[in-house]
Amino acid sequence: RSALDPNTEHTLILIKPDAYRRGLVGEILARCERKGYVISALSVVEATPDQLEAHYAEHVAKHFYADLARYMMSSPLVAAVITGEQVVAGVRCLTGGTQPTQADPGTIRGDYGRDWGSGTVENVIHASDSPASAEREIAIWFPELVR
Ligand code: TYD
Ligand code: MG
Repeated sequence: RSALDPNTEHTLILIKPDAYRRGLVGEILARCERKGYVISALSVVEATPDQLEAHYAEHVAKHFYADLARYMMSSPLVAAVITGEQVVAGVRCLTGGTQPTQADPGTIRGDYGRDWGSGTVENVIHASDSPASAEREIAIWFPELVR
């Protein structure tokens, strides 16, 4: 049983620690709201190693994972469930490409992301890449909503 409306679509975003520290939380949420999406859940959290390993299961074995995990635990972050028709694809579009230096201007990463070259990619936001990913990720960050 879910506390989220099963008749519409949901996605999971993380406003990453760099964006939290830089005061970009309101700006990023505002961009989602202006697009017509609704914030269904919102939380300031300090990510744990276990949460991050679950969230980034596809990347845990990769060379950049240690830097990624350090970045994601460098301060609190904001997790949110965003709701609306075709919201998964829509928010990925707002988010922009992974590398901030290549993300289109006008996207969240293109406008605010930083690319440190050899080190961590500080790209401001995570957004689920498919409805299946969204369901899996919402359970990691908002277990109370899906129990
Ligand atoms: P990925 O799932 O490929 O990108 P996206 O966030 O656009 O879905 O990678 C997850 C995160 O891992 C990415 O946002 C930043 C980090 N990352 C690196 O630090 N270095 C890399 O080479 C890659 C591919 C990702
Ligand atoms: Mg991804």
